[in-house]
Amino acid sequence: MQFLAGLCMQKKNIVLTGDRPTGPLHLGHYVGSLQNRLEFQNLYTQYVMIADAQALTDNYEHPEKVRQHVVEVMYDYLAIGLDPDKTTFFIQSMIPQIHELALYYLNLVTVNRLKRNPTVKAEIQQKGFGSSIPVGFFVYPIHQAADITVVKANLIPVGEDQLPMIEQTNEIVRSFNRIYKREVLVKCDAIIPKISRLPGIDGKAKMSKTLGNAIFLSDSSDVLKKKVMNMYTDPDHILASDPGKVEGNPVFTYLDVFSPDRVKVEEMKAHYRRGGLGDVKVKSYLFEVLDAFLTPIRTRRREFEQNQQKVMNILRDGTQKTLHVAMQTLKEVKDAMHLNYF
Ligand code: TRP
Repeated sequence: MQFLAGLCMQKKNIVLTGDRPTGPLHLGHYVGSLQNRLEFQNLYTQYVMIADAQALTDNYEHPEKVRQHVVEVMYDYLAIGLDPDKTTFFIQSMIPQIHELALYYLNLVTVNRLKRNPTVKAEIQQKGFGSSIPVGFFVYPIHQAADITVVKANLIPVGEDQLPMIEQTNEIVRSFNRIYKREVLVKCDAIIPKISRLPGIDGKAKMSKTLGNAIFLSDSSDVLKKKVMNMYTDPDHILASDPGKVEGNPVFTYLDVFSPDRVKVEEMKAHYRRGGLGDVKVKSYLFEVLDAFLTPIRTRRREFEQNQQKVMNILRDGTQKTLHVAMQTLKEVKDAMHLNYF
């Protein structure tokens, strides 16, 4: 009896993350988020959302691109080992309750508050909206609060740039529960990954598809080799005999992250610093390491690509499961708001 009571009391953590389906996933995604999801699926109730509606906020003219990448992103998820028995995958636009919630949340946030959101501010600059900011884009933090609260997620693994979204979500949760006098919505905490970003192959701070400096999980061996052999290194390391810099040299950053042989990497770093170790040698080793990492991922991806129907079924089942949870949340929300007519 006591045991049962304990079980009922125990609240399991609910994790929600998502990606905008605008391109294939790359090593930066792996290091910054996918790797953690592999761990979280064994610890928590995990939802992974394909944020197609959010992707449309800055791709509304290219819905076919978003559509195509929904399935590509799913291949990437499954290829790295996210397991549909442990992780619930769903498509954002297929959960109408998210959009309904967002409508009610719009009342709880001021225009000025949104204008102050540092992520929105930065993205407006970055995307060159100028004074023509689409409203849908402007309010996406509110929509994101709906993504999170619709499944009552309390742990949100995100990069630093998404912290203002979590803050905004918690403000909405607090306002909602206070105004409608019921503890319906659940507050959430961000989980910031240990390594949050990987530099690009050009040495820029962040690997990104848009910057054209990414190694994709789906890159073939040949493409990988070309990318690695052309990587930025220490620009002052001209002759193999010159002493080279390891800090800020992405070739070594990648080795630190991906090489299973720590001793070898440390030896190579010492040798490189001393002089006498050429870039080609280091890059050849990095290619070997990355190719060994990506080969099983590519193989699994190919298997799923040959069985697209199975992948769509996984998404459909996950979406169905999420719908049940979302309907329950909406019921509680509408009860609290006195929107329960019949
Ligand atoms: N904004 C996130 C990104 O650009 C994606 C996202 C949408 C998300 N909804 C979310 C992340 C909810 C965490 C929780 O990467």
